[in-house]
Amino acid sequence: MEFKNVVENRFSCKKYSGRQVEAEKLQAILEAGRLAPTAKNLQEQRIYVVQTEEGLAKIDKVTPCRYGAPVVLIVAYDKNNVFTFPDSDRNSGAEDASIVATHMILAATNEGVNSCWLNYFNPDEVAKTFNLPENEEVLMLMDLGYAAEEGKPLPNHFSRKPLEETVTYIK
Ligand SMILES: Cc1cc2nc3c(=O)[nH]c(=O)nc-3n(C[C@H](O)[C@H](O)[C@H](O)COP(=O)(O)O)c2cc1C
Repeated sequence: MEFKNVVENRFSCKKYSGRQVEAEKLQAILEAGRLAPTAKNLQEQRIYVVQTEEGLAKIDKVTPCRYGAPVVLIVAYDKNNVFTFPDSDRNSGAEDASIVATHMILAATNEGVNSCWLNYFNPDEVAKTFNLPENEEVLMLMDLGYAAEEGKPLPNHFSRKPLEETVTYIK
């Protein structure tokens, strides 16, 4: 798909059909995340693929936003391996993991797979539910699947501010 079409076609899908995501498509999505840039190339992202009935039932316990997706990615990062900005507490963990997630969400669109970025969950609860290592912070969950007939973009998808409202050319 042309990059412009990928960006234009992505939307947050809030109703999935029962169709499974093909293994090779999932692989392409994960590979796009692998190639994402991270500060100092630390690659501290940790991606968990949840697609078993048992795993998806656990997802349903931690968020109401699976919307029937057959695959959910848990995107986390290793808190002990982040780039920390000099003279600051700020670190790049959330930024890096967000870039990885964005690569994957656009790759999903490119593969014809629908998605939704979720932050409506408690990260500690997710970590506990899936027994993730203590050094990992959960950033987001990503629903992946094929939209049901009714799984169209919500009206707010089409409401984007004009560039002049968000971009300023400065000297
Ligand atoms: C950081 C972030 C968190 C989001 N969290 C949720 C969520 O928890 N549940 C949900 O249904 N949608 C969630 N969304 C989807 C947004 O509601 C959606 O992206 C926004 O309304 C714009 O619609 P669009 O993605 O179709 O363009 C999230 C999106 C972003 C970027």
